[in-house]
Amino acid sequence: MSTPVNPNMDNTWKNRDAFDRDPLHLTGIYATLADRLKNTSYTDRTALDIGMGMGCDAAFLARRGYAVDGLDISKIAVDKVQMAAQLVQLNITTHQTTLTNYQPADSKKKYDVALMLRLLHLLTPPEQTQTLLCMESFLKPDGYAVLRVLTDKSGKIEMPGMLRAGELERRFSGWDIKYSEKNVRIPVKLLDGSDGYQVFDDLIAQRK
Ligand SMILES: C[S@@+](CC[C@H](N)C(=O)[O-])C[C@H]1O[C@@H](n2cnc3c(N)ncnc32)[C@H](O)[C@@H]1O
Repeated sequence: MSTPVNPNMDNTWKNRDAFDRDPLHLTGIYATLADRLKNTSYTDRTALDIGMGMGCDAAFLARRGYAVDGLDISKIAVDKVQMAAQLVQLNITTHQTTLTNYQPADSKKKYDVALMLRLLHLLTPPEQTQTLLCMESFLKPDGYAVLRVLTDKSGKIEMPGMLRAGELERRFSGWDIKYSEKNVRIPVKLLDGSDGYQVFDDLIAQRK
């Protein structure tokens, strides 16, 4: 039988430390993103991490000179990441909110990069549509969207917004696709505490 998942991951985050794993799990998307960001000539670089969890990927961008806004609905995640960022002097500002309710202090603020890693499948289909439109509206015209979405059909976990194979790419059909990889296996702790993995689609797309 499948188990419903609570999208607020407070229970997971209370046992974890901020910045406690490698950025993007050092999978193929990581090398591509690192390379792309190295080749950009942005000044005042800004990034948004939507559903940042323990902030490992936000930290990766902050270490590359980005001013990062990290969003999460989990108070524990937001508090832990903010405290750790201050401690090691990384330019990350956390906000306890969804993207659709997010209101930056500067209402015209736009970002060079927006990460949405392992979040989209936790949202219902209407929330997904709204959130993706909102993500686009927060990006600068040539900004990058970076996504990792669960596609594992093992049936062990019930997700409201699991995507069909190849659907992530279709949602970004009007964009310039810079990187796309399917069936990316990421090691995870399963709900029963055992070690396992989940399968994701990864995408980097640039606004045209
Ligand atoms: C599976 S974790 C992924 C965390 C991180 N992006 C990563 O890849 O390690 C999903 C995160 O999204 C947060 N979350 C769930 N629903 C959200 C929403 N509607 N808006 C913002 N954050 C949300 C959860 O609290 C959790 O921290």
